[in-house]
Amino acid sequence: MATVLLTGGAGFIGSHTALEFLNAGVDVVVVDDFSNSSPKALDRVQKLTGKSLTSYNQNACDAEGMRRVFANCRFDAVVHFAGFKAVGESVAKPLEYYRNNIDSALTVCELMREYDVRKIVFSSSATVYGSAKTMPILESFETGRCTNPYGWTKFMIEQILLDAAKADPNLSVTLLRYFNPVGAHESGEIGEDPLGLPNNLAPFITQVAVGKRAKLNVFGNTYPTPDGTGVRDYIHVVDLAQGHVAAYQHATPGAHIYNLGTGKGTSVLEFVAAFERATGVHIPYEIVEPRPGDVAVCYADPKRAEQELGWTAKLGLDEMCRDAYNWQRKNPNGYRD
Ligand code: WQD
Repeated sequence: MATVLLTGGAGFIGSHTALEFLNAGVDVVVVDDFSNSSPKALDRVQKLTGKSLTSYNQNACDAEGMRRVFANCRFDAVVHFAGFKAVGESVAKPLEYYRNNIDSALTVCELMREYDVRKIVFSSSATVYGSAKTMPILESFETGRCTNPYGWTKFMIEQILLDAAKADPNLSVTLLRYFNPVGAHESGEIGEDPLGLPNNLAPFITQVAVGKRAKLNVFGNTYPTPDGTGVRDYIHVVDLAQGHVAAYQHATPGAHIYNLGTGKGTSVLEFVAAFERATGVHIPYEIVEPRPGDVAVCYADPKRAEQELGWTAKLGLDEMCRDAYNWQRKNPNGYRD
């Protein structure tokens, strides 16, 4: 049976992806330093699937430690999630973001070469498109107009992987550009567990819904959108996770880039209304100043993933809101309960 290595595999996307790989009959090894995740997530993935996985408490920048992981197992592929991911924090701590995110990616690539692992799927982000002028966004659109160090690290790692694929004809590189992942596994056992004040919309709303926050601050309503609030392409994390399995199953030598989104744009106020409809919970909000660096509109054209990977997002806003709330209600303090 094939085995894949998931770096950062205990995180929000990583844990959901580990579950989908196990359900697809692929063995999973996880490396995670649990600096922004919990081993509990992996316990629950194993309980939900009835299958076991191997995990290492390991920082992906530590080459010696990572070499022991590669020496212990013949990996068919690496799915690289490990990295810092808070946009605002990256503006305040750029050196830590460049060091951690670039160093971990290079360490993984060098060990893949040393142990002849020939497939990598990389957790990239629509943030590499910067503020695209036309919608929906195609993979062929210009990248590299990032608006924060976090986005620049994703752009730079994409470049490293594309150059590595050019230099080694046996290497398969797949860049998955996520739009806005939200939701949780329907069991409510695993989900999004941000440390401190949530940066992102969905976890903030679910914390309001369970009474941890008094109200949602809506960052601006003067954008050129139907109701003036920001428009994004929200995608259910289970759909996103299944996109990783599809990408791995279709991995061939060369470089491949896919948008993982639904192709639908939803405004902040539309998301709030969908959440209230799906859960019956009122979400009080106040319109405040726009957040610096935010783009007005961002949504995907996901046709290439559909045509080449046979993958499309199947779950809609109702399921995203229902499942996000179910996770938060069952775990008001995330994995710290
Ligand atoms: C969505 C919309 C906000 C919070 C970022 C990263 C991206 C990825 C996802 C990591 C916007 C509005 C938000 C709030 C609000 N991260 N909002 N009040 O900024 O589209 O994308 O997170 O991979 O790379 O760039 O996501 O959820 O922060 O914001 O009004 O308290 O919700 O203005 O319109 P974003 P978000």
